[in-house]
Amino acid sequence: MPQQDNLRIVLAARPVGRPRPSDFRLEHAAVPEASDGQVVLRILYLSLDPYMRGRMSDEKSYSAPVAIGQVMEGGTVAEVLESRHPDFRPGDIVLSHSGWQSYAVADGGHLRKIDPAAAPITTALGVLGMPGFTAYAGLLTIGQPKAGETVVVAAASGPVGSAVGQIARIKGARAVGIAGGETKCAFIRETFGFDAVVDHSAPDFADQLAAACPNGIDVYFENVGGKVWDAVFPLLNGFARIPVCGLIAQYNSTGDFEGPDRLPIVMRQVLTKSLTIRGFIQREFVAQRPAFEREASGWIAGGALKYKEDIVEGLAQAPEAFIGLLDGKNFGKLIIKV
Ligand SMILES: NC(=O)c1ccc[n+]([C@@H]2O[C@H](COP(=O)([O-])OP(=O)(O)OC[C@H]3O[C@@H](n4cnc5c(N)ncnc54)[C@H](OP(=O)(O)O)[C@@H]3O)[C@@H](O)[C@H]2O)c1
Repeated sequence: MPQQDNLRIVLAARPVGRPRPSDFRLEHAAVPEASDGQVVLRILYLSLDPYMRGRMSDEKSYSAPVAIGQVMEGGTVAEVLESRHPDFRPGDIVLSHSGWQSYAVADGGHLRKIDPAAAPITTALGVLGMPGFTAYAGLLTIGQPKAGETVVVAAASGPVGSAVGQIARIKGARAVGIAGGETKCAFIRETFGFDAVVDHSAPDFADQLAAACPNGIDVYFENVGGKVWDAVFPLLNGFARIPVCGLIAQYNSTGDFEGPDRLPIVMRQVLTKSLTIRGFIQREFVAQRPAFEREASGWIAGGALKYKEDIVEGLAQAPEAFIGLLDGKNFGKLIIKV
């Protein structure tokens, strides 16, 4: 194949607190060659997700960190340029996990074909991909919303939160979203159809949330932690379910958390209100993936599940865009058009 320039972004340093552009480095490299069973990919779209902050640190977690000097990890939609695998041909569009680079080699067994006629290919990174599946599996398996119950979710304009609220409504529950700023809140109300939305930047946020949940909270889908959790906690009903999906408010924190130890108060409420709090990583529910794809595609086609993408042009913009994601600057599923 012709000599191409593989632009790639590697981890230059482990961030302390909020990542900085200097924690990343843009490099040029040769396009790798495929061996038997492999394909050469041209990356079209790169997904930027909050979990990547965890991969930049070397603290013990559910996945290994990215090594210093290694290409940043990430889900991608790519075009097959060259194939040495019997199931793939040049021109095929695939879902891969090729990271922050413009070309990659991948084992055919690690790829999934995407049908560009079925849905826009970017949806494989958002509403029909990992974030949409996270919402579906976490809400339905752990949250188990019932008709008439109140479901609360923050980061509600993003791919996980927006799907959580809309699936809750599909199940007959009342969806209350939390987001930063009036633009996001209006969109969540008007386009995603949530029953109520509260701006977490408002000075009286906790009071507004209480007013938006007159019957308390039956399911709190935890995406952020921090002050949102503090406002939700007193409103939880008996037998409330709390799928703990993410804690983005603390991803950039350093060292020990400040303030008094509130664990005894939380545990007392867990006991006296019979709360169910369960953390999860979406891949634990992989067996539900076919059901998710079938149901979510149907909901999208029927207009019950809407999505918003925030597409940024150019791989070189990925570090700034990712830092912005942790600050709430994205508006919808953040994707880099490589
Ligand atoms: N467990 C799993 O398997 C799994 C899988 C995927 C995602 N997740 C988690 O799900 C959550 C949402 O992910 P996503 O991809 O849908 O992200 P996202 O909503 O596109 O982006 C993150 C959003 O979090 C909000 N945020 C950031 N800091 C906040 C703070 N201090 N307080 C309140 N809100 C804050 C911002 O929205 P506002 O401007 O509205 O504040 C920001 O736009 C994340 O915690 C992520 O780690 C978990």
